[in-house]
Formats: sequence, C-alpha cells, structure tokens
Amino acid sequence: MTIKKGFVLGAGIMGAGIAQLMAQKGIEAIMVDVDEAVVKRSLAGIEKGLQKRVDKGKMTEDEVKDILGRITTSTKLEDAKDADFIIEAIVENVEIKQKVFAKLEEVAKPGVVLATNTTACSISEIASAISDPSRVVGMHFFNPAVVMKLVEIMPGVSTDPAIVEKTRALAEFLGKEPVVTAKEGIAGIASRVLAALLNEAVWVLDEGIGTVEDIDKAMKMGANQPMGPLALIDLIGIDTHLAKTRTLYEKFGDPRYRPCYLLEKMVHAGLLGRKAKKGFYDYEQDPPAPMKLN
Ligand SMILES: NC(=O)c1ccc[n+]([C@@H]2O[C@H](COP(=O)([O-])OP(=O)(O)OC[C@H]3O[C@@H](n4cnc5c(N)ncnc54)[C@H](O)[C@@H]3O)[C@@H](O)[C@H]2O)c1
Repeated sequence: MTIKKGFVLGAGIMGAGIAQLMAQKGIEAIMVDVDEAVVKRSLAGIEKGLQKRVDKGKMTEDEVKDILGRITTSTKLEDAKDADFIIEAIVENVEIKQKVFAKLEEVAKPGVVLATNTTACSISEIASAISDPSRVVGMHFFNPAVVMKLVEIMPGVSTDPAIVEKTRALAEFLGKEPVVTAKEGIAGIASRVLAALLNEAVWVLDEGIGTVEDIDKAMKMGANQPMGPLALIDLIGIDTHLAKTRTLYEKFGDPRYRPCYLLEKMVHAGLLGRKAKKGFYDYEQDPPAPMKLN
C-alpha cells in the first residue's frame, strides 16, 4: 500500500469518520471542510471518541497521540495537492460535488483516485464535470465509518478498472469488506434497499399508524434490526436521507422512494437528526425521547 497521505473533503459525520479511520491505520489524513467550525467540532469529536476507548482500556494514551498526530485540518481544497488518495464526503448535492471535483482535478497529482462517498448521486454525473472521468469512483463507507465493515465501490460508466482496484486495495487496507457493484446503479446495493425500508417507516409514522417509539420497537423486535428505522434516519441525518430518496425517486420514478413531506418539514425546522441533537428523537434528553412532530 503506497498511500501515505489521504485527503478527505467534508468534515461532517462521514468525513470525520473516514479521516479518523485513515489515521488509525497509519495514513496521514488531511480533513477539510468549507466551515472551520465543523472542522474544529469534528476534531474535538474524534478526540472525545478516542479518549473513551482509552477510558475503557481499549487503546493507550500513546496510540491516541499517534492517531491525532496523523490528522491535520484545513479549510483549503488546494491542500489536496500532495495527497495520494482523495475522498469527497461533502453535502449530498450533485451540482456542488461537480464543482468540487472540477477543482480537485486541477490540484490533484496525476493518477490519484478521486473517490466520492456519495450515497445516491450518479458517479458518471459527478465525473462529467472533469476532463478525465476515468479517475472518479464511488467509495461508499457506512455510518459510523470507523465501525461498519462494508465499503461499496461503485464505478461510473467510464471508471478505469485500475482505479476500482486501487480503491478496493485501500478499502481492504482500512480493514473493510469491499463489495464492488458490477455497474453504476443509483445508491449501490445496501443504501438502495435500505432507502425503501426507511422511507416506509416515515410513511407509517405520517399516516398515524404507529408512534416513533412503536415503529422502532416493532422493527427491532420483529425484524431483528439492531436499531429502529427512525433512529437510523436520525443517525444518517434527515437532510442526507431526504436528498438520497429524492434522487432515487427522480431517477426511478418508483413510488417506493417517494419522500414523505414530513422529512421536508423537519429539515425546514432544523430537525436534522443526531447531528442537530433533534430529529425523530430529542438527543438532549437522556435517554433520547421521541419528538412531538406535527
Ligand atoms: N450520513 C450517513 O449515514 C452517510 C452514509 C454514507 C454516505 N453518506 C454520504 O456522505 C456525504 C456526506 O454526508 P455526511 O452525513 O457526512 O454529511 P454532513 O452534513 O454531516 O457533512 C457534510 C459536510 O460537507 C461540508 N461541505 C459542504 N460543501 C462543501 C464544499 N464545497 N467543500 C468542503 N466541504 C463542504 C459541510 O460544511 C458539512 O460539514 C454525502 O454525500 C452522504 O450522502 C452519508
């Protein structure tokens, strides 16, 4: 593995997790976001999470020091110039991703993989914004990136197989189990299947058939899900889940992906899930209590 420096653009839920994972595996991670406050908050979050592992005896203070020493932060995309591998994990919006990829292509070293952690944006559409679309590939980590074993690797229509192989090698180096989709489909495998299930849970809530607690309880107890679907949407982020289902609905026109208007109202109200401390549950309460949603 010849990747010494990894560049992660977007320091939100996923970017922070990917940067931490790289640093834990010995790669120097540059974690970048347009919003300096996000970078600071995410770095503090990483430190807090690692400290918890020390407190539980799962890591030493020296290991934490080494990991943190491998993470640098910035608000400049130009810092991608020395990177050996680039992963974009910014907001789920194809136009913004395209702009970012056009700039990344200008600064990145030749041959460096330009990966996107997108859930449902088209890889080919993102790649269409640059002169060499063969370098762009989907590298989809799951949340939380440090913990979840799966990485889905999604080639676009023009992705070079060598780029796919480099991405698979990185995923394996990071201790993940890669699944490579045979061709581009929107949202790969796991997120596409899950999107329909999560969507249905929101409709059941909106139709007044079950409460937030009962829907989550039913799916945990009856379908053996490790967490309820509404708690999972909170973990993903209401805005991110909404953007993903909108794209799936737009691309397939299939009603199973039609996003419930409740999600839109929640985004307008800033109820974005765990990252905003409020979503289907209020995370300022201990234990989190279901929110009253009109
Ligand atoms: N949340 C999940 O469970 C999950 C899982 C897998 C993949 N994803 C995908 O990962 C990506 C990021 O999701 P997230 O949950 O981390 O979102 P998030 O809202 O937590 O973070 C997104 C970050 O992108 C930053 N950003 C926006 N425009 C930028 C730009 N031009 N340059 C640099 N930074 C910019 C924002 O400031 C924000 O901090 C999305 O494409 C999402 O679909 C999310």
